[in-house]
Amino acid sequence: MTGITGPSDYSTEPPRHPCLQINSKEPFNAEPPRSALASSYLTPADLFYKRNHGPIPVVDDIERYYVSISGLVEEPKQLFMKDIRVLPKYNVTATLQCAGNRRTAMSKAKTVKGVGWDVSAIGNAEWSGAKLTDVLELVGIQKLTSTTELGGKHVEFISVDKCKEENGGPYKASIPLSQATNPAADVLLAYEMNGEPLTRDHGFPLRVVVPGVIGARSVKWLEAINIIAEECQGFFMQKDYKMFPPSVNWENINWLTRRPQMDFPVQCAICSLEDMTTIRPGKVTISGYAASGGGRGIERVDVSVDGGKTWMEASRFQKTGIPYVADDDNTSEKWAWVLFAVTVEILHSTEVIAKAVDSAGNVQPERVEDIWNLRGILNTSWHRIKV
Ligand code: MTE
Repeated sequence: MTGITGPSDYSTEPPRHPCLQINSKEPFNAEPPRSALASSYLTPADLFYKRNHGPIPVVDDIERYYVSISGLVEEPKQLFMKDIRVLPKYNVTATLQCAGNRRTAMSKAKTVKGVGWDVSAIGNAEWSGAKLTDVLELVGIQKLTSTTELGGKHVEFISVDKCKEENGGPYKASIPLSQATNPAADVLLAYEMNGEPLTRDHGFPLRVVVPGVIGARSVKWLEAINIIAEECQGFFMQKDYKMFPPSVNWENINWLTRRPQMDFPVQCAICSLEDMTTIRPGKVTISGYAASGGGRGIERVDVSVDGGKTWMEASRFQKTGIPYVADDDNTSEKWAWVLFAVTVEILHSTEVIAKAVDSAGNVQPERVEDIWNLRGILNTSWHRIKV
């Protein structure tokens, strides 16, 4: 017994904020109204989107809770919370985004399979905990250097929640050893979110946070870490969260032909307006978020109020009042989203559009049809709103 268990029913779910829009009740999947998102650089935990595949685990005894580390290591270990807490504590502000963010809009182009999400399956938080690199050193795995022999290995994270996709087994995922042993990748075993202990919904007592990568790899309620020769063979790595071309359907799909999605592409969404809102003609401020995976910054956010004929550049910021500079490590938080705002004049019915460009020059695609995929992931098409 490790002091944490995954219930097999939904009778012990935690209380939740009444503002959340519930996309599926059991398992609980919910997002905040978009207006709540871009008004705050750090997303409060109770409003942060919740993405689950089973009932929320219960910690029966935090003193007995431990994470076991085994697999291709000389000395397997069990780490209790006190062992993790004595390691240096890092604070990393990182945006977590579900690969299914904006799926509902993709399903309007053509049916997709999966829980529907508006634009709020994303949030930005300050995560605090131990670096995975420091934890792995405790079992003799050195930090990445130019001479490190990685041998194609992976680090697998295993939880305790019971997921039907895993036939009642736990949620699991892996990342390459090269990322896990790289201190600059900032992968955390986090026990705090925005300065408070993690809430049950977000992985109490300990979760993985893999910055810049789709949320699916940030395993909550961590129970075990395995060093393995090949990437994790779990459902959510091999039969989900892969992006297929528009030509692939449920008859001709071959899951082996695609790799598990890791980094997320450049994304942005307008949060200050709902679709089909009626507004008074005149000046309006359009605001929202922009984010890119892999630690890439946001180079630009363009906004159009004439359906994409002409564009205006929005101003970008992370902390209120401080202009954002992409890729400048001194002022920007590289794993965190960038908020944007621009004041425009709208005199008649129109389509307002936002698109972002990241620091590698990647631009969001114009049409959702071009990136449609049967699981409805990574809808990063231009965000359009009719007013
Ligand atoms: N970890 C476990 N154990 N079980 C899960 O269902 N969902 C994953 C990931 N980690 C999941 C998990 C997915 S798909 C996402 S997007 C993020 O957690 C969501 O994290 P959040 O609920 O804290 O926002």
